[in-house]
Amino acid sequence: MERLVSNWYNHRALPESYICPPETRPGKLSIPSGDTIPVVNLGEALINRSNTILNVLRASQEFGFFQVVNHGVSEKVLNDTMNVVEEFFKMPMEEKASLYSEDPNKVCRLYTSNINYGTEKYHFWRDILKHHCHPLDDCIKLWPQKPTRYRDVIRTFSVEGKKVGLTILELLTEGLGLESGYFKKDLSEAMLLVANHYPPCPDPSLTLGLPKHCDPNLITILLQGHTFGLQVFKDGQWIGVQPLPNALVVNIGHQLRIVSNNKLKSAEHRAVTNSKVARTTVGLFISSSEDSIIEPAKSLTNAAQPPLYRAFRYKEFLSYYFSMMGDTELALQPFKLPFNQSVIS
Ligand code: OGA
Ligand code: NI
Repeated sequence: MERLVSNWYNHRALPESYICPPETRPGKLSIPSGDTIPVVNLGEALINRSNTILNVLRASQEFGFFQVVNHGVSEKVLNDTMNVVEEFFKMPMEEKASLYSEDPNKVCRLYTSNINYGTEKYHFWRDILKHHCHPLDDCIKLWPQKPTRYRDVIRTFSVEGKKVGLTILELLTEGLGLESGYFKKDLSEAMLLVANHYPPCPDPSLTLGLPKHCDPNLITILLQGHTFGLQVFKDGQWIGVQPLPNALVVNIGHQLRIVSNNKLKSAEHRAVTNSKVARTTVGLFISSSEDSIIEPAKSLTNAAQPPLYRAFRYKEFLSYYFSMMGDTELALQPFKLPFNQSVIS
């Protein structure tokens, strides 16, 4: 519990254990102009579906990242969600102590930095609240009891955010030419909520809130609030994801890259800190259940485009992914098929 950044950071210099090696430091944080993450108007799908499909597909192929507006989640639900999560992190430590855990298997937990504070070489400027959202009626009993409206507000956000995810998946299904409803059941059954809290940082040039990574799941829907911090790696440079009012940030995860047989991109991203204000983000990580089989969709592969990955259980992938944290391509390695083997299968 003492390890939470929000517990001790006040007025202290950046401890040495938070300084990243020079090659991963963000350095001076000028947000490059030029390339920006596409913004897709999801409401347009009602009038011009084929154009919306094209926009979502292009963004997923080129960037692996985009923002959506007119997505159907009301401003009130978005504001309530951000407010209740910010309130959670602002509560006195005693109120949160029972949720703190360094056991990654705990289904609802408050922790800090990254996957394993005890074994990591250096730490990250972040506190995290993470819990399952499926099956909702079972999970909700384990969610924080304070703030008192947490469960109500987050129930609504998780249900409505998931709908946005499924809408985007259905647009991608059509865009890729998969059979309708391809992602609807098993592949998108489960969901995790991860709330990230990045307190103001004494030296944002030397540390990161979250290291470079790709998400392991199918698709992620993120409410990032009003503060810059999320960056996407594209064509050799980091692009800032501009905070837009009432937008949700969407990114393709490794599962979707694999199912699409590399037609969609799972982009590397990271979070930088800032010295002025705390930044809070709320992510919904849609995935299959851990026992589901993941493999390239059969209808996307043929002799000319052989499957690039073997079939595997999602839990097998997750355990390897977490052991390889930070190295995106290495995490995929044991699941890739050698080219000639792909041709035969
Ligand atoms: C994540 C993530 C980005 C952010 O939680 O996987 O990429 O800006 N978060 O908090
Ligand atoms: Ni991420």
